[in-house]
Amino acid sequence: MSKFIIEGGKRLEGEVQISGSKNAALPIIAATILNKGKTVLYNVPDIQDVHTMFEIIQKIGGKINKKHNKIIINTSEIHTYEIPDNLMRQMRSSVILAGALLGKYHQARFSYPGGCEIGSRPIDLHLKGFEKLGINIKEEHGEIFCNTSQILGTQINLDFPSVGATENIILASCLGEGTTIITNAAKEPEIEDLIKYLNKMGANIKGETTDRIEIIGVKKLKEISYNIMPDRIEAGTYLVAGAITGGKVKITNANPKHIETVLNKLEETNCKIKIEKNSIEIEAPKRIKATDIKTMPYPGFPTDMQSIFGALLSTAKGTSIITENIFESRYKYAQELNRMGAKIKIEGRTAIIKGSKKIQGTKVVAYDLRGGAAMILEALAAKGITEIENIHYILRGYEKIEEKLKKLGAKIY
Ligand code: UD1
Repeated sequence: MSKFIIEGGKRLEGEVQISGSKNAALPIIAATILNKGKTVLYNVPDIQDVHTMFEIIQKIGGKINKKHNKIIINTSEIHTYEIPDNLMRQMRSSVILAGALLGKYHQARFSYPGGCEIGSRPIDLHLKGFEKLGINIKEEHGEIFCNTSQILGTQINLDFPSVGATENIILASCLGEGTTIITNAAKEPEIEDLIKYLNKMGANIKGETTDRIEIIGVKKLKEISYNIMPDRIEAGTYLVAGAITGGKVKITNANPKHIETVLNKLEETNCKIKIEKNSIEIEAPKRIKATDIKTMPYPGFPTDMQSIFGALLSTAKGTSIITENIFESRYKYAQELNRMGAKIKIEGRTAIIKGSKKIQGTKVVAYDLRGGAAMILEALAAKGITEIENIHYILRGYEKIEEKLKKLGAKIY
């Protein structure tokens, strides 16, 4: 399957179950290397990025077994510390394996990671963190070799609260000597989930949900089972699917606390939100109202929801302004939405969005995961048929998106 065909204009209604979080599952799968044994994971999303992570774990000697909703990973026979270049290029989060390999085996070899084209995405903060932990780093022909005889606890202040760098430093140091303190650490819920997982394995990490994380090195980690948190970006996407179609959608297996800023913004657009313990229901007006958005590190508005709201606000009554503060090139989707009748003007990091009533189906091309999701949402609101190409980007991060949208009444093939 390489494209989606969507017949728009259907009001979505019903209930949809949110899958496990992509951005929590990926570092947790990498972290299974640290106990050199078995790990049982539940609520792992069945998406391309997770398949790529499994492939890398298997290539370096790990074993993966799937039994219904249960994934069993055995890392007792890891035999190489080299992450295959072709898989590294497929997915940026493969860089997280470096921290896990260094934490357990004190060496890792990898090339610069790939991933969605949404900005320059350097890994300097990851490498600076490794160096501070006493790791030697050598770069040759685009390859990075890291090794050390021991990981030494230290204090690391991040210039920016990078999610990946925070995770990599935690993974590299949790089996180290002494205590490592990260300041200006990222506070995203996926980091909290990774720390909960590691602590359940026997790690001693404090300060999850704060910007000061303390990692007290332990000697050994044990075999455990763990249930991955729900995907907050997928949750937000289905709520917006309800909002953009003037519909009524209930999402289950969701954590409302993780998307408070998103829910506040949806309320500002005149949608009604009903929150229960693990579910959220949205009831949208016929046409939503404009609002302004600024993306920020958590608990601010998530950059991964920026394009999703770009689509929603392109249908609003009034003009909205979005400011993207995390990744500089995250507006590629706008030109495609404009082909459908949206009125989005990009000026540097700002998008000025004049709401339009005349969104029409046409042929569009996805350039990245969340930009592709924005095109699906726009297509759901559009008159007529939209064809979205390059949907492999979307399938990297959304489990059974076609099936889930169909269940809500969408016409998607
Ligand atoms: C993670 C998420 C991604 C989300 C992003 C921000 C995963 C698998 N991906 O990506 O979905 O959009 O957090 O919430 O969890 N930076 C540097 N140097 C570095 C690292 C980052 O300058 O070494 C910059 C980046 O270019 C970017 C900003 O820091 O401008 C944020 O990046 P970061 O938080 O590291 O995002 P990722 O971990 O790549």
